[in-house]
Amino acid sequence: MEALKKQAGIKAAEFVQDGMIVGLGTGSTAYYFVEEIGRRIKEEGLSITGVTTSSQTTKQALGLGIPLKSIDDVDGVDVTVDGADEVDPNFNGIKGGGGALLMEKVVGMATKDYIWVVDESKLVDPLGSFKLPVEVVQYGSERLFRLFSDKGYKPSFREKDGLRFVTDMQNFIIDLDLGTIPDPEKLADELDHQVGVVEHGLFNGMVDKVIVAGQSGIQILKASK
Ligand code: A5P
Repeated sequence: MEALKKQAGIKAAEFVQDGMIVGLGTGSTAYYFVEEIGRRIKEEGLSITGVTTSSQTTKQALGLGIPLKSIDDVDGVDVTVDGADEVDPNFNGIKGGGGALLMEKVVGMATKDYIWVVDESKLVDPLGSFKLPVEVVQYGSERLFRLFSDKGYKPSFREKDGLRFVTDMQNFIIDLDLGTIPDPEKLADELDHQVGVVEHGLFNGMVDKVIVAGQSGIQILKASK
């Protein structure tokens, strides 16, 4: 599995050219992409500016000597490469397994060429086996938890080291154990309109390309937009 993630991450770096503003994703697959960008800067003299999607990736990028800017200090992002937890045939996906969904969505929305890197186990139909992360403000989060529970969404507060997980933006994450998501658009719309929800991990139709690493090689799936 690790080898497949690495293949996908390295392949994605081929889409990066000199002078680009590059969104740097979060997670164990995007990690290899960021590493490869660091290598190309050192060995090939590649000149890019990175925009990170989490404090974790900021740390990695700084360690590799990748020049960084905040999303607020760039006009747009040329290409972003990020991982995903699930992708369906309609190019809808679940992200946020690493808790970085909010920054990931902000950077993804600002990107011209938005690329996901996954191993083949992430291709599913329908979405929903992976618990859907929902980032919520801390104030009123118990009320939201009860509301999700009443709807049968089987919520759980994400925890880390025995404490409630707090995102880079100081929010909580409630994971919804939905099993299947028959209508991702409808659910996204419902969550978008729920006061207290800052963002959710449904990334519907946002991605332009999905680089899939499998036992039989690399496949690049292109969304028609
Ligand atoms: C981070 O919040 C996530 O959206 C990741 O991009 C996603 O969880 C995929 O991570 P892995 O590549 O580690 O599976």
